[in-house]
Amino acid sequence: MPGIAVLPGDGIGVEIVPQAIKALQTVGERFDHEFEFTEALIGGAAVDAVGVPLPVETLDLCRRSDAILLGAIGGPKWDQLPVALRPEAAALLPLRKELGLFANLRPAVLIPELIQASSLKPEIIKGVDLLVIRELTGGLYFGEKKRDKLEHGERAVDVLEYSTAEVERVARLAFATARKRRRKVTSVDKANVLESSRLWREVVSELGQEYPDVILDHMYVDNCAMQLIRNPGQFDVIVTENMFGDILTDEASMLIGSLGMLASASLGGQVGLYEPSHGSAPDIAGQGKANPLAAILSGAMMLRYSFNLEEEAVVVETAVRQVLAAGYRTPDIMEPNRTLVSTEEMGDLVARKIEEVGV
Ligand code: IPM
Ligand code: MN
Repeated sequence: MPGIAVLPGDGIGVEIVPQAIKALQTVGERFDHEFEFTEALIGGAAVDAVGVPLPVETLDLCRRSDAILLGAIGGPKWDQLPVALRPEAAALLPLRKELGLFANLRPAVLIPELIQASSLKPEIIKGVDLLVIRELTGGLYFGEKKRDKLEHGERAVDVLEYSTAEVERVARLAFATARKRRRKVTSVDKANVLESSRLWREVVSELGQEYPDVILDHMYVDNCAMQLIRNPGQFDVIVTENMFGDILTDEASMLIGSLGMLASASLGGQVGLYEPSHGSAPDIAGQGKANPLAAILSGAMMLRYSFNLEEEAVVVETAVRQVLAAGYRTPDIMEPNRTLVSTEEMGDLVARKIEEVGV
């Protein structure tokens, strides 16, 4: 029986995760798989309960599990804590690092029913189907950090470093993934300024020779930010540095209507981690307003990547699409003449659809 570690975390994490569990349970019942869900503490919730944001028990559970479902981490309540206790820095980043999850896949696929929900013009976003592969355990997030006292004020340092091997493994995944899609990789860097980007570009170019059937483009990150909203249809697979990927994926989420629609899978180690790309959204937490679809779609990615259950993944994705086609919306994607529903209602609607959609 596949064991799934469940880490709801903070803010809207505790509201959306149960909806993803419901979707997984329902698809499991339909296809005769039993998943075992075991919950553990992480983030601010763990700080409050046991004094640390990433308890050893949680990390152990993750290592023993077949997949991890994560909600969201952090919030204003814990922002003032020293770095060693801050949920983002002391729980989420070490979790990714400890589990060796060097690649974060964030698919931005426009569901046609949401074409009006985006702030961009329909003709720009029509047919958007891109995948950002964000390097997740290196780069600016993980380089040395320090502060020095100066005569006047201080100096703060964040190092951006990459090794050949770190670039190569994530680029390899990008090429392999592109082969199953439209065979195009855009490697995004800032090679006109950064040395780490110059190495990145060299390594990706060289590796590209092993994949002659995949078209490889290089693009500066500033240009990519612009191209994403100018002509997103040009992208198939984007591969990029950790921080660039963080920023570009928030931007890419707007192509598909809402950050509440952007799922993610973090891969590369023994166990995959699945989490929506949005944060804990403290401003709407506890009000039933959060969109659970990114979490539910992350569950579909789990079925696909950790359990190799492609048909089941497609059923979940189809169910989401059909619920949207039937006009149901959470506030973030609400439009005139649609039916506004709560987080839980949306989760129930998707679960009911999972029982009945055709395969
Ligand atoms: C994300 C989030 C995290 C990140 C934060 C919460 C540390 O923004 O997963 O994109 O920057 O990686
Ligand atoms: Mn982010």
